[in-house]
Amino acid sequence: MNASALDRRALLGLSAASLGTLALSSQTTRATYRPGRTTAAAHLQATLAEPLALPALNYPTYALEPHIDELTMQIHHDKHHQAYIDNLAMLVADHPEIAGLDPFEILLDFSLVPEAIRQSVRNNLGGHLNHSFFWKLMTPQSLDKSDQLTAAVNDAFGSTEKMQAAVSEAGLKRFGSGWTWLVWTGAKLDVISTPNQDNPIMDRTGVPVLGIDVWEHAYYLKYQNRRADYLSAWWNVCDWYAVSQIFADVLSNGVPDA
Ligand SMILES: [Fe+2]
Repeated sequence: MNASALDRRALLGLSAASLGTLALSSQTTRATYRPGRTTAAAHLQATLAEPLALPALNYPTYALEPHIDELTMQIHHDKHHQAYIDNLAMLVADHPEIAGLDPFEILLDFSLVPEAIRQSVRNNLGGHLNHSFFWKLMTPQSLDKSDQLTAAVNDAFGSTEKMQAAVSEAGLKRFGSGWTWLVWTGAKLDVISTPNQDNPIMDRTGVPVLGIDVWEHAYYLKYQNRRADYLSAWWNVCDWYAVSQIFADVLSNGVPDA
């Protein structure tokens, strides 16, 4: 992993493209960022003062059956994700001094918020970000990967199967709650696991191209303690078209124009 390959300007463009949920601020280098398919205008916000919106799913909650069950999707999206949003709104209400901050800037530098609420902001802003990203990665009708993504996967892992095994293994080994990610390091694709609601952009270890939620709330109703089975099943609903688009955005928006 070469974290230094990801400079700040690259992260600004890359993650705005790949995550598609946070602010585009006209006074930052992201003014030159070219939104891709993965950017959902409804989720954009310039400051924390603007209400965070729960992104609508692109498919019915039953659509991912039998791999991801409907009740899990309902609770996961409507309750868990909403809770991160509600918690963040409460933090902003209690600390109006952070209302004017750009949420994306916070992700890159949590010292922008008071230390007393830093971890809560990290958890809930990260939770909103990660889940907004996650919903876009699933579909009941997946298409093939792009040649561009396939080539990068083969270059880094040897095959799609080996990449999937590496992502799944990292998710399986994540102790407690967290995420497993396929990331672009600035030089190649790699696999990273993060705890809680952390995202690789927070410590600049990579920009997510794909991520799988391995919190128990993502799978426990159907799979109970069998996280490996959930991870194995998840690949059946992976939206390779979306992932390919995200990867293309990550590459093309890697370094915003000066
Ligand atoms: Fe989750």
